[in-house]
Amino acid sequence: MKLSVFCGVSVDGFLARPNHALDFLDTDQQEPHGFEEFYASVDVVMIGRKTFEIVLTFGKWFYGKKPVVVLSSHPLDFSSIEGGVVERMSGEPDEIVKQLEGRRFKHAYIDGGITIQRFLAAGLIDRLVITRVPVVIGAGIPLFGPVPRDISLRHVATRSYNSGLVQSEYEISAASRRPQESKKTTVAFRTKASGRKQRTK
Ligand SMILES: NC(=O)c1ccc[n+]([C@@H]2O[C@H](COP(=O)([O-])OP(=O)(O)OC[C@H]3O[C@@H](n4cnc5c(N)ncnc54)[C@H](OP(=O)(O)O)[C@@H]3O)[C@@H](O)[C@H]2O)c1
Repeated sequence: MKLSVFCGVSVDGFLARPNHALDFLDTDQQEPHGFEEFYASVDVVMIGRKTFEIVLTFGKWFYGKKPVVVLSSHPLDFSSIEGGVVERMSGEPDEIVKQLEGRRFKHAYIDGGITIQRFLAAGLIDRLVITRVPVVIGAGIPLFGPVPRDISLRHVATRSYNSGLVQSEYEISAASRRPQESKKTTVAFRTKASGRKQRTK
């Protein structure tokens, strides 16, 4: 199963303000930037419990008829959701992916900061589409956090929009998602005294 992230952030990398407000994501001119096409390509949505709680405040169920998995280690109340297909799952990211693969899902849209960070750290995310909104908000809920190792990204495309949105798309190859064995790396460095030297660590 392919896992994709498609999210909007401030230029300083926040998904939401500290109080979860999303107002800064609205630019003066709202313009299409590929979300509809992306959403049509996924057959399951996975969101963190905190994102779920914010989505509930939108009123109308945001995800339509698409199956939605809300990740939480606590029981959740889905009774207010009309017309949606929602369930709760919990556990290690790789176990969750295996279960969804067993149900023949092919492409998951994963959302929520902590949630994305956990699946990214587990090496399970294939694609990131990050749309930067031209504003710095200084504090908030971050898209990224600590990682167990560097995660190399392959830049696919960057698109810019009249409103100032800048969207970058990256792929994460299967090879770069696997934990790397420690290997000898040759690091070139220059010292004032001796010019170019080589060091192996
Ligand atoms: N700008 C955007 O495009 C965008 C997109 C998405 C979200 N957001 C915003 O981001 C904020 C939420 O992000 P967040 O980082 O605070 O939280 P989050 O990722 O939405 O939710 C985190 C919670 O998800 C649950 N969870 C995640 N992985 C789990 C797993 N493997 N097993 C069991 N439970 C798991 C845990 O819930 P429990 O504590 O219940 O166990 C965890 O506390 C909201 O304000 C939302 O509106 C913005």
